[in-house]
Amino acid sequence: HSIVNAVQELEVGFVIIGPEEPLSLGLADEMAKLGVPCFGPSKSAAQIETSKQWAKAIMAAGNVPTGRSVAVSNMEEALAALDPFGLPVVIKADGLAAGKGVVVAQTRAEAVEALGSFLTDRALGEAGALCLIEEYLDGSELSVFALCDGKTTRLISFACDYKRAYDGDAGLNTGGMGAYAPPAIVTPKLLETVMRTIVDPTAAAMDAAGAPMCGDFYAGLMLTASGPKVIEFNCRFGDPEIQVMLPLLDGDL
Ligand code: AMP
Ligand code: GLY
Repeated sequence: HSIVNAVQELEVGFVIIGPEEPLSLGLADEMAKLGVPCFGPSKSAAQIETSKQWAKAIMAAGNVPTGRSVAVSNMEEALAALDPFGLPVVIKADGLAAGKGVVVAQTRAEAVEALGSFLTDRALGEAGALCLIEEYLDGSELSVFALCDGKTTRLISFACDYKRAYDGDAGLNTGGMGAYAPPAIVTPKLLETVMRTIVDPTAAAMDAAGAPMCGDFYAGLMLTASGPKVIEFNCRFGDPEIQVMLPLLDGDL
């Protein structure tokens, strides 16, 4: 509410929403009510980032390649669903967790511990009241960024980030320790595939669901042997990724 007040008092003419929390709280919807142009999705479209289960449903509707997953809300469901995934297996809290909501479990014990911590102990609060058990995807990670006005998408750039803490990736996942762009693994053909099989059908499925994307698609991808697959979507520029991508743009953003 203080941001809404400030926008009115300062007669702000254009708002770019950076982080996920105000998007999740509906700041873009408030800007629409005020008639102030805003870069950033509505609360409902922000679910592509704020609910991993919602994102999976959109991806299913758009036939977008991603890891197989099951949503669980208690330990009984979780234990019944876990074993068919094999190892490693990925445990994800449904909601926002600032990079702390994903555990890549190498052993069954680690997976059970992560599920217990999210579902039972509520280590992440309500963000972990629902969890996904997800297929482990093997490959190189790449983040692709595309602008969307609700219908039309345009590739902006791509980057890789360093997610794990400590030298040699010895620590836990973080929101991102650093980033580099442009990564050498990327070819024009790969980008064409990402836009055609991932970004465009996701935009179309969100529009069809009544939650058109306005802002930036941040597609977190695993480049697997069977093509690029979605690990996660964010609905904003990445921190720190945008810091290495903006200097690469020739024009005026
Ligand atoms: P996320 O917050 O969803 O981007 O996940 C954080 C990190 O966990 C990713 O950058 C990957 O390194 C890893 N990760 C997430 N999902 C998977 C998956 N299905 N397979 C392998 N690694 C994953
Ligand atoms: N660096 C990951 C993020 O901004 O979510």
